[in-house]
Amino acid sequence: MGYQLKVPPCAYAGAGSIEAVKGIIAREQSKSILVFTDKGIRSTGLLNPLTHCLDEIGVQYTVIDDLKPEPAYTDVEETLRQAQVVESDIIIALGGGSVMDAAKLCSVLIRAPYTIQNLLDDPSLAKKQIKTVMIPTTCGTGSEATCNAIVAIPEEQSKKGIVNDDMIPDYVILDPAMIAALPKSIVAATGVDALAHVVECYTSKKATPFSDTYALAGARLIFQNIRRAYENPQDEEAKEAMMLGAFYGGVAITGSGTTAVHALSYPLGGKYHIPHGVSNAILFAHVMEFNQDACQERLAALCDAVWPHMSRSEEEAKARYVIDEIADIVKVTNIPTDLKEFGVKKDDLDFLVEAGSRQTRLLVNNRKELSLEDIRELYKKVLK
Ligand SMILES: NC(=O)c1ccc[n+]([C@@H]2O[C@H](COP(=O)([O-])OP(=O)(O)OC[C@H]3O[C@@H](n4cnc5c(N)ncnc54)[C@H](O)[C@@H]3O)[C@@H](O)[C@H]2O)c1
Ligand SMILES: [Zn+2]
Repeated sequence: MGYQLKVPPCAYAGAGSIEAVKGIIAREQSKSILVFTDKGIRSTGLLNPLTHCLDEIGVQYTVIDDLKPEPAYTDVEETLRQAQVVESDIIIALGGGSVMDAAKLCSVLIRAPYTIQNLLDDPSLAKKQIKTVMIPTTCGTGSEATCNAIVAIPEEQSKKGIVNDDMIPDYVILDPAMIAALPKSIVAATGVDALAHVVECYTSKKATPFSDTYALAGARLIFQNIRRAYENPQDEEAKEAMMLGAFYGGVAITGSGTTAVHALSYPLGGKYHIPHGVSNAILFAHVMEFNQDACQERLAALCDAVWPHMSRSEEEAKARYVIDEIADIVKVTNIPTDLKEFGVKKDDLDFLVEAGSRQTRLLVNNRKELSLEDIRELYKKVLK
């Protein structure tokens, strides 16, 4: 079986690229726009450069600004209800993965004959009803590049991905000004999420030459810039590198797929509402350590690509280096890793093992098979 590269057809990047929105609206001959964002982002003033552009070209727009972080499918239904009553021909999402995922879902749900529950049962039903423009304001999810949207399922105390090619964004604007003032804790969590995307996709069973190209390019950018972006918010070069790295991570996800880090992190997000980047960070080094023997060659190749002048020559030492770097990045960026802080107790182990083992969509991508006992041991490591 061959393999495929899927990328959004049009992406703009670099300082001032927000201005590209004017050309997009002209090209699409859009008359009425829906803008999705959340209250946190609105309060930073980040919406202003966008609305300024829209005002300049005199196009009509409606802002929906109460999208929820890490939305449940019911939250997306609520946003859809608001969106349905507005005459619109394009959706612009300005936000992190939460806003972008909700926008991608609404782009296939608006005026459609099926519901989000139908899509949870059968994602193949999704058909694009309206085009999308993604303007990420975090440096993590890569949702601006993917065909995926992740929603929490409160009844199952977990999260689920809805995946369909029709959800791939039509336009992407990667303007580093959007993350210039991003709080350090969010730079850390979303940056480590992006790092998990590229490392998992490169070591995934489903890796292809296309996904490898993007995963390695993303790994170089993120490993080399995440500490800088965290330590010095003014470092524009590092911030731009993080935005590109996160986008490449998204392209890698579409070509290959994340693995056990993301799979086991879903119950932590779904039940305890631990932010996505944080739950991945908690598991990341432990899972890669577990995977090391099955992924050693790949981790060593990743090491060569990111640190070409590495003095270590043994494959094992190179793989070890990558895992140690991951652990160090999580540590120096002060991501909280104590699950007790999030209300997770030792007694929750059985729930975690059961819910984690149900994430088969991603577990099947892991190069090393995980038994129930392996999953239990991994959760035990982070439940200390
Ligand atoms: N679709 C995909 O391919 C994909 C991949 C990975 C994760 N996800 C999903 O994305 C969601 C997480 O997205 P995220 O990590 O980007 O965070 P987020 O969108 O949930 O945002 C986190 C917080 O940061 C705030 N924020 C965002 N940008 C800001 C800025 N520039 N300045 C100040 N505050 C800002 C928001 O208001 C919010 O409170 C999860 O639901 C996760 O499951 C999707
Ligand atoms: Zn992720």
